Amino acid sequence: MEQKPDVVFVLGGPGSGKGTQCRRIANDYNFVHLSAGDLLREERNTPNSQYGELIENHIRNGTIVPVAITCSLLENAMNKNVAKRAAEGDTNFGSGRFLIDGFPRNMDNYEGWQKQMADKANVRFVLYLECPQEVCMERCLKRGQAGSGRSDDNEESMRKRLVTYFTQTLPIIELCDKSNLVKKVPAACCEEEVYNAIKTIFEEYYPKV
Ligand code: ADP
Ligand code: C5P
Ligand code: MG
Repeated sequence: MEQKPDVVFVLGGPGSGKGTQCRRIANDYNFVHLSAGDLLREERNTPNSQYGELIENHIRNGTIVPVAITCSLLENAMNKNVAKRAAEGDTNFGSGRFLIDGFPRNMDNYEGWQKQMADKANVRFVLYLECPQEVCMERCLKRGQAGSGRSDDNEESMRKRLVTYFTQTLPIIELCDKSNLVKKVPAACCEEEVYNAIKTIFEEYYPKV
């Protein structure tokens, strides 16, 4: 029987450091980092995409794109990366190791994944970066001022993103916690300190030989 890829979901508020930390984990533990937000922005920027305008409206308003779109982007990206690593002869990657950053963000995401992907991947745990909203706000505004070019790194979009996070994403983290899937890491401290806590978790599941 064909093995299924391992998946770790990475959740936390906007600006909690998901992307920053995922890049480090991917590098040290041979994971592929897939950010749902990055995949949606890429799809939005694809000329003639039938979803471009819909995605941009959701991003500006901090609301969540329908799961059929997001989950298909994730599944395609997973398949592409498994094929690419196999072609490169990366036997260490096996059937795949994916960090899925910024997903599932609401009940629609969660149920859509169960329907489309539950049989095709093993979700090992949920890495939850816990960060106060003031810190999230400050980091994203700073990221905007530093030229992120993101249409949602402004105060108005950030307020909306935080409301979505607290009303829709946190309940999903709580739901996953009921199945003991959540690994919580304090994320308001410096990058290095956050990563040290993350490493302890990954060493347990994916020890480096
Ligand atoms: P997310 O993907 O959760 O939105 P990012 O990783 O993009 O968050 O980080 C948001 C911003 O905050 C970026 O500009 C990043 O450089 C910065 N940042 C990330 N982690 C930290 C940290 N621990 N301390 C201070 N700034 C951070
Ligand atoms: O994770 P990131 O901050 O890059 O997400 C940016 C935006 O992309 C979100 O505020 C949301 O509008 C959209 N998104 C989504 N569904 C996801 C992930 C991101 O609709 N699962
Ligand atoms: Mg991000």
